[in-house]
Amino acid sequence: MKRVLVATGGGDCPGLNAVIRAIVKRAAREKDWEIIGSTNSFDGVLKEPTEIVVLDEQAVSGIHFRGGTILGTTNKGGPFEWPVKNYDGTWGAVDRSEEMMRKLQYMGVDAVINIGGDGSQRISQAFYEKGLKIIGVPKTIDNDLPFTDFTFGYQTAVQIATEAVDKLVTTAASHNRILILEVMGRDAGWIALSASIAGGAEVCLIPEIPYDIQKVAERLETRFSRGKGFANIVVAEGAKPKGGEQSGEKSGEVGYHNVRLKGAAARLEAELKEAGITADIRLTVLGHLQRGGIPVAYDRILATQFGVKAFEMVLEERFGEMVAYRHPNIISIPLIDAIQKNKFVTESSNAVKTAKGIGISLGD
Ligand code: F6P
Repeated sequence: MKRVLVATGGGDCPGLNAVIRAIVKRAAREKDWEIIGSTNSFDGVLKEPTEIVVLDEQAVSGIHFRGGTILGTTNKGGPFEWPVKNYDGTWGAVDRSEEMMRKLQYMGVDAVINIGGDGSQRISQAFYEKGLKIIGVPKTIDNDLPFTDFTFGYQTAVQIATEAVDKLVTTAASHNRILILEVMGRDAGWIALSASIAGGAEVCLIPEIPYDIQKVAERLETRFSRGKGFANIVVAEGAKPKGGEQSGEKSGEVGYHNVRLKGAAARLEAELKEAGITADIRLTVLGHLQRGGIPVAYDRILATQFGVKAFEMVLEERFGEMVAYRHPNIISIPLIDAIQKNKFVTESSNAVKTAKGIGISLGD
């Protein structure tokens, strides 16, 4: 019997369960393979006693449309930087990767499939360099991983954000207001741009293009002066004004490296007032609603394709590689390439040309 360990790491994302189910179902079509799961990324392996779940067809039955991950996840620390409390009460980190390698050997694990974003795939590569037979599956609602046209979860997040814009347009029109919607997107503006195009926002502000508040104010004034007495703005949480920083605060959470982004919409409201905008402004922060719940059909299909491919890569011994989607094929690429850079919006991105082409201001 050969054994594959599956883990989900980083922020959760609609479609994770569909990947897990597809791995298990594909493996069941081969002889003598067992799939097990580690809870909360690799924490389940490192825990004493270990927290390992047997993933057979019964365990994954009907989970393809469930949000979240049945294995649990974490975006804090990891085997290479395990948070520990120092004697003086402060927090430090220790490397438990060797211990994990030994434990996996003891557990009879032949291969690992790590489903996660850029941070998780950096962990995959580091384990691969230690000799672990590991395969990566990319996930993020932000769609900012390179070499893959899409990651699952992204279309669901865009759908949720678009529905929010649709709703805000009608209330903005009724009250002659400016409604600002803050969406996720730490460093990449794909969700904001897509929701703006699909929902019909007048302004879309993204992390890659620092905005000039005067340009934003001008766009709003033009719209109001042309008789449209309302406007909708979509701002990514990571957007920043020209010469300014992202809006957020240092997180006090142990092992969490990210700055907690917060307040992009609130700052924009203050800046617009300062720039002379007198219309009523209201804010909506969509937050984790974009990450939870049922994946749209597209994401379930992509996630299922990724799961099937990941197990087939185990069969083909394509270790140190990551599943990717390059239309129309599901391919595999070296993990080392996948972690070099992110896929950001650029001036030449089709989404930017389309947005500008229909008069959406990007604040530049
Ligand atoms: O990476 C995906 C993402 O959705 C980012 O856009 C966002 O900044 C981050 O996750 C927030 O994650 P959490 O609140 O779980 O730390």
